Amino acid sequence: MQSKRGKFIAVEGIDGSGKSTQVAKLCSRLKAEGHKIYPTFEPTNGPIGSLIRQMFSTRITADDKTIAALFVADRLDHLQNPVNGILKKLEEGYTVITDRYYFSSYAYHGAHMPLDWVIQSNVLSAELLRPDLNIFIDIPPQVGFERVHANRADVEIYETLENIKKVYDTYHKAFDLLKEEEKIVFVEGNRSMEEVATDLYELSVKCMTEA
Ligand code: ADP
Ligand code: TYD
Repeated sequence: MQSKRGKFIAVEGIDGSGKSTQVAKLCSRLKAEGHKIYPTFEPTNGPIGSLIRQMFSTRITADDKTIAALFVADRLDHLQNPVNGILKKLEEGYTVITDRYYFSSYAYHGAHMPLDWVIQSNVLSAELLRPDLNIFIDIPPQVGFERVHANRADVEIYETLENIKKVYDTYHKAFDLLKEEEKIVFVEGNRSMEEVATDLYELSVKCMTEA
């Protein structure tokens, strides 16, 4: 029997907002309740995502547009990969929950190049699949910065406070620009992990039960 197409939920936020923690909690809770859930993330662990991570960790330099284009390519593979692509998983009836999707590109690359260009360069992904729900875990940049630095000796190129502030502002600019065509909800992230987790759980269950 053909199962019903699953829902696609993208979790967004600045570095340190708690996305990874929350996506893991959310997916284990939903799986334990018997839902078909496929957790995933960007940059992916596929060939292009691995190249991106390698570039970040070894400080191989490339110009900003090249890096932005690699994220576009990684996303197209994330969507269309015939083995474990998001589109395939949705067809199989999984609800796919991703830690980052194209709003991350808008925010991180739009912070230092024209936002229109970044949105345009992701138009193929947007045409292939818009999230049924974008959840933005909202924390002040200073809090994200402190959380990241409390736990890590290394600092990725995007993780200076000045950059996090720009990324935060650009996220909001992009949400405002696309509020008509995208379903976006904001969750106050500067609370206990449990409180944030309850909100994400309730929003996800609501999304999954909608027609
Ligand atoms: P992201 O994936 O958004 O970068 P993480 O989930 O890796 O964020 O969290 C960054 C750090 O902040 C981790 O050390 C995590 O334990 C901590 N953290 C996550 N959520 C909270 C929270 N609600 N309150 C305090 N610390 C948190
Ligand atoms: P990630 O591994 O999610 O970092 P973290 O767990 O610290 O949030 O993502 C790595 C970095 O890649 C992160 O700083 C955001 C950046 N990024 C982009 O610049 N563009 C994109 O399109 C995506 C998806 C991520």
